[in-house]
Amino acid sequence: MKIAIIGAMREEIEPLLEKFDKYNLVEYGGNKYYEVRYGNLEIIIVYSKIGKVFATFTATILLEKFRCEMILFSGVAGALNSKLKIGDFVIASKVCQHDVDITKFGHDYGYIPESSVYIESDKQIRCVAKSVAEKLDVSISEGIIATGDQFVGDDEMKYFIKNNFCADALDMESGAVAVVCKNLDIPFFILRIISDTANKDADINFQEFINEITKKSAAFMFELIKELIKKQKLNI
Ligand code: ADE
Repeated sequence: MKIAIIGAMREEIEPLLEKFDKYNLVEYGGNKYYEVRYGNLEIIIVYSKIGKVFATFTATILLEKFRCEMILFSGVAGALNSKLKIGDFVIASKVCQHDVDITKFGHDYGYIPESSVYIESDKQIRCVAKSVAEKLDVSISEGIIATGDQFVGDDEMKYFIKNNFCADALDMESGAVAVVCKNLDIPFFILRIISDTANKDADINFQEFINEITKKSAAFMFELIKELIKKQKLNI
């Protein structure tokens, strides 16, 4: 079986890549795909670049060219839920696109005809992730993640998204990966660690914490892979 692990930025995949002795690099369509092995499992690690378009492109290539059968996304998010603090782990129960707006035609925010506002992530992987969190003694919460092509750093936008989508955190890629996976019937999982609280200090917090946070998410993803193998959720 072949699985993919995506981050949005180089910083989000580098600490994970360091956990493998060697890789095979495939350059395609402006991205670098790092092929690694863990036992019998083939893993492709890649950073998509920021935003929904690049995330859609990368996820589609992973499934259609590389034939990956599962996508795990690891990255950072801004908190909307006041209970979430910088450094907290969140896994997406479902995701939506907060910047889709055809309300002029009487639709809800985030709704696209013949699709849905929310897309649910894979329940089984989430369940394994929770057992990993217990094992590593990290607290993890599950919530709605809202995606859009903006880095949010002001209260008006923050509360608009939080209130309209009942969202707990926001990012710039998950909603796009979810659309690709849902339409191609591929299980996906989203892990995000809070890097900021989407307020006026968001950019400063983001830069300050990104390196520390991505080390934590790499350790978690590595354990998750091991646990998925152990629990035979990966067909290898
Ligand atoms: N990812 C991390 N922080 C974010 C923010 N404030 N807005 C959008 N995406 C983010």
